[in-house]
Amino acid sequence: MRIARFHLVALLLAWPLLAWGGLPDNAQGTGEHAPHWQPDPMHEYWDPGTYHRPEAESVEGVFKGEDCLECHAEATPGIVKDWRDSRHARAEPPVLCPACHGEDHQKLSFPTPRTCGTCHPQRLAQVEEEKKYGFPSHALAMERAVDSKHFADKPKAEVASCLQCHSVATKCDSCHTRHRFDPAEARRPEACLTCHSGPPHPDDLAYAASPHGQRYQKEGAGWDWSKPLRKGNYPSPTCAYCHMRNGNHQVADKAVWKFGIREINPHTAENAIKRKRWQATCADCHPPETAGNFFRQLDDERRTAWGSLQGVERLLKALRGDGLLRPAARERPPYPMDFMARLLPRERIGFYEGQASAFYNVGAIERDYFEMWYFDNLGAYKGMAHGAPDMSRRFHERLDSAARNIALQAKRLTALDGKSPSGKNVDLTPLWMEGEYTRFNRDHN
Ligand code: HEC
Ligand code: HEC
Ligand code: HEC
Ligand code: HEC
Ligand code: HEC
Ligand code: HEC
Ligand code: HEC
Ligand code: HEC
Repeated sequence: MRIARFHLVALLLAWPLLAWGGLPDNAQGTGEHAPHWQPDPMHEYWDPGTYHRPEAESVEGVFKGEDCLECHAEATPGIVKDWRDSRHARAEPPVLCPACHGEDHQKLSFPTPRTCGTCHPQRLAQVEEEKKYGFPSHALAMERAVDSKHFADKPKAEVASCLQCHSVATKCDSCHTRHRFDPAEARRPEACLTCHSGPPHPDDLAYAASPHGQRYQKEGAGWDWSKPLRKGNYPSPTCAYCHMRNGNHQVADKAVWKFGIREINPHTAENAIKRKRWQATCADCHPPETAGNFFRQLDDERRTAWGSLQGVERLLKALRGDGLLRPAARERPPYPMDFMARLLPRERIGFYEGQASAFYNVGAIERDYFEMWYFDNLGAYKGMAHGAPDMSRRFHERLDSAARNIALQAKRLTALDGKSPSGKNVDLTPLWMEGEYTRFNRDHN
């Protein structure tokens, strides 16, 4: 008790100093592009297993759980209150602070999924199992983000947020937040929406507009969230009810169209098995025909969207053939990570030729196609997949209007054929070669 008081006073005085430390200035990134990017101090939180470094200047001492609680009741009262309200505090014996952070205050660690997995091996194993279904998945989210070329290519400000969401792979406090670790919180759709929102994955809009989400919004406040997500416990499903069936911590074993980002064949043998899993999920509340008809409609919607996207892709490829895409690949700097583009400069169009070039530093018509494919298409998919037909319809209207706009631009480009409306040739090279995505970027990542 006395020791704790003494340290607390010393620490409160030294707090501003102690808040420093952690990652060394020359820390290197991870993954395929490791030499080309540097982690931020926040990465200590997003990927603690890789980046967390204990504060060498921290409180000195090796403590038992009771000491941690006593001092932290003053140092961080919110944390202690949450912990006291948690199942961990009521377990026998209780799961005290050192179980996740260690006992030596100058060698503290932040828990990784493995730390939790020592006591919850089944949950960890379920997450790990996602790896066999490939991307996208929670288990692979961190490497998927840092290994994408644009993560290392783009200016820091545009990639700073990536790992916050993709940390779902490297820590378990994404859906049941620390230090309550409350399954009731994780069962609610809000637990997913910090990450499953925004233009490429508007799951929030889709669910809110669906009959399931409508029902949740009207009545959810009165539901008993302490019940597990099983048949009979909830009148209408939440994200986790459908995607983490019966509490299974793996979200990848049913996805057929996945992100919606590429065209796939929904009728392979493997996909037929996944569809059966979906149908079993819907069958908690609907007759089997409902799901059958629903997925037929989804596949039709996808066929329509891909028909439109492929039409525009053909058009862009024709313009490329005629040398009408400006700036052409030779007139813009290659992306640092795009080695193919250095050897063989070529405008990359659509998913299969590589998404890197489609993201940025391209002419208006290529960017318009990227937005059509990445935002309008994905919105249309998510609306249909979640039973929000009006949302899907609106995004299909945007697909149509983008296609018309691109066709019009293509016609103008063909008419101008490299000339400005005044008939003079315009040299756009300096604009592209000196832009912020180029030298600035290479010097600042
Ligand atoms: C005498 C008071 C005191 C005791 C005892 C104490 N802490 Fe702390 N702890 C602090 C203060 C103050 C900070 C913030 C400054 C720092 O990092 O040292 C802190 C920070 C932390 C952090 C955040 C570290 C980071 O890198 O951000 C963790 C985790 C932590 N304590 C866990 C524990 C655990 C586990 C115990 C018991 C083994 C414990 N504390 C015992 C006062 C204490
Ligand atoms: C079941 C595991 C678990 C237990 C038990 C636990 N923590 Fe934590 N703690 C975590 C996780 C997870 C984080 C977040 C780490 C990250 O962001 O990567 C964390 C973060 C912290 C932080 C940093 C908070 C911040 O927002 O910067 C402090 C301080 C802390 N814990 C103190 C405590 C204290 C004190 C106790 C005991 C009352 C305790 N923890 C018990 C899992 C635990
Ligand atoms: C030292 C063992 C231990 C560690 C480490 C541990 N837990 Fe637990 N956890 C338990 C025990 C014991 C219980 C209560 C009994 C039970 O429900 O299994 C529990 C319960 C839970 C619950 C259910 C809470 C409820 O209200 O029903 C969640 C969620 C949970 N832990 C998450 C985590 C996460 C996330 C981590 C890592 C950050 C973690 N645990 C680390 C032992 C541990
Ligand atoms: C901390 C952020 C975060 C939270 C919270 C989160 N997710 Fe995710 N989720 C992701 C990321 C990132 C991916 C994509 C990972 C990748 O790069 O492959 C993803 C992917 C998915 C996928 C796609 C799997 C597939 O195979 O198609 C599903 C389904 C999913 N999450 C469901 C959920 C549900 C349900 C919840 C809430 C209970 C949730 N997620 C909470 C970040 C999160
Ligand atoms: C708001 C949270 C969030 C942010 C920020 C975020 N992502 Fe994601 N990301 C997701 C979610 C959720 C998915 C899964 C979408 C789905 O399956 O519908 C995803 C999917 C992906 C995928 C596709 C996975 C696959 O296998 O097809 C890649 C690659 C990716 N993100 C990389 C990044 C990069 C790089 C950044 C930073 C520029 C970033 N993400 C920023 C949440 C986020
Ligand atoms: C994508 C969101 C999400 C993530 C990430 C997540 N959980 Fe959970 N967790 C849930 C949901 C939802 C429930 C409630 C399941 C139910 O109702 O059956 C839950 C419940 C639990 C429970 C208590 C219930 C039980 O039956 O065991 C434990 C323990 C648990 N999770 C551990 C973990 C561990 C360990 C990790 C990291 C490996 C983790 N969770 C990551 C969503 C998540
Ligand atoms: C009624 C069940 C249901 C609910 C509720 C639900 N989804 Fe889905 N979700 C689906 C179906 C069905 C698909 C399409 C799967 C496919 O193409 O095979 C899907 C697709 C997805 C995908 C793309 C990857 C995948 O697994 O196909 C993500 C990510 C996703 N949903 C997240 C969420 C989030 C976040 C919420 C809550 C805001 C949510 N879902 C609510 C059924 C549901
Ligand atoms: C936990 C129960 C539950 C599950 C699981 C469930 N639904 Fe529903 N669903 C409902 C309820 C309740 C409504 C009616 C909402 C309202 O109108 O208030 C509904 C409405 C619908 C509707 C609107 C048409 C109609 O019949 O009113 C469709 C389409 C639908 N669900 C499809 C699905 C699909 C596809 C799945 C599986 C991916 C699924 N549902 C899973 C409970 C569920």
